[in-house]
Amino acid sequence: MEKIEESNKINVIKHPLCDHYLSVIRNKDTSAGEFKAAVRKLGTILILEAVKELPTKSYPVQTPLASCNSFSLDRDIKVIFAPILRAGLGLADVASELIPEASIQHVGMYRDEITLKPVWYYDKTPVEYDSAQNIRVFILDPMLATGNSACATVGLFIKRGIAVENITFVSILSAPEGILSLSNEFSKLRIVTAKIDESLNSRGYILPGLGDAGDRLFNTFEK
Ligand code: URA
Repeated sequence: MEKIEESNKINVIKHPLCDHYLSVIRNKDTSAGEFKAAVRKLGTILILEAVKELPTKSYPVQTPLASCNSFSLDRDIKVIFAPILRAGLGLADVASELIPEASIQHVGMYRDEITLKPVWYYDKTPVEYDSAQNIRVFILDPMLATGNSACATVGLFIKRGIAVENITFVSILSAPEGILSLSNEFSKLRIVTAKIDESLNSRGYILPGLGDAGDRLFNTFEK
C-alpha cells in the first residue's frame, strides 16, 4: 500500500485526547454508552478542526455596557453537515451543537456485502443549491474504509453544484485505501481524520479499527 503523506488536504489530528478516546472506542469491552460518549468527544475535536477555515465577519454588537464590532460566522455562508447513515449520526449531534444554524442533510447508503459498493436508499439534498459558492459542506462518517460511500457522497454534492474545495470529509478512523481512493478521485478535497489505520480486511473492515461503528453506537450486535 502506497504511503499516505499528510498535507494541507489530508489533516490527521494530533491531540492527546484523540489518542485517549480512540483507545476507548477500539476496546471491544467498551459499553455502547461509553462508546457513544467517546465518539462525541472525538467528534467535537474533529469538527472544531474541520470548520476552522469558515469565514468570519465583523458585525455590530450592543453589550450591556457599550456598542462594538465583533467577529462571528459570516451570515452569508451556509454550513451543511451531511452525516452518512447510520454511523454518521454519531457525529451529527455534536456538529449541530457547535453550529446550531447549520443544515443537517442526511444521506444513506448501505454496503453491498459482496461488491462492497454503496447502494443509495436516502438522499436529503436538494436537486440544486442556490448560491452554491456560499455553501460549505462537511460530510460526516466515523469510518473511512474502502472510500466507496465517501466517493459517492462527495460526487453527489459536486453533482449538486458544490465545488470540491468547499467540501470537507470528516472521519474518526481512516484506512489508507479509503484516503487514497478519495484523494485520487478528488485531489482538492480536504480530509480531517483522527487516525489512519493499517489496512482493510477482506470484508472491508478497518484493521485494527473498532468493528462496526453503527452496531457499536446503536448496540445492535447480533449475539
Ligand atoms: N464501517 C465500519 O463501521 N467499520 C469498519 O471497519 C469499516 C466500515
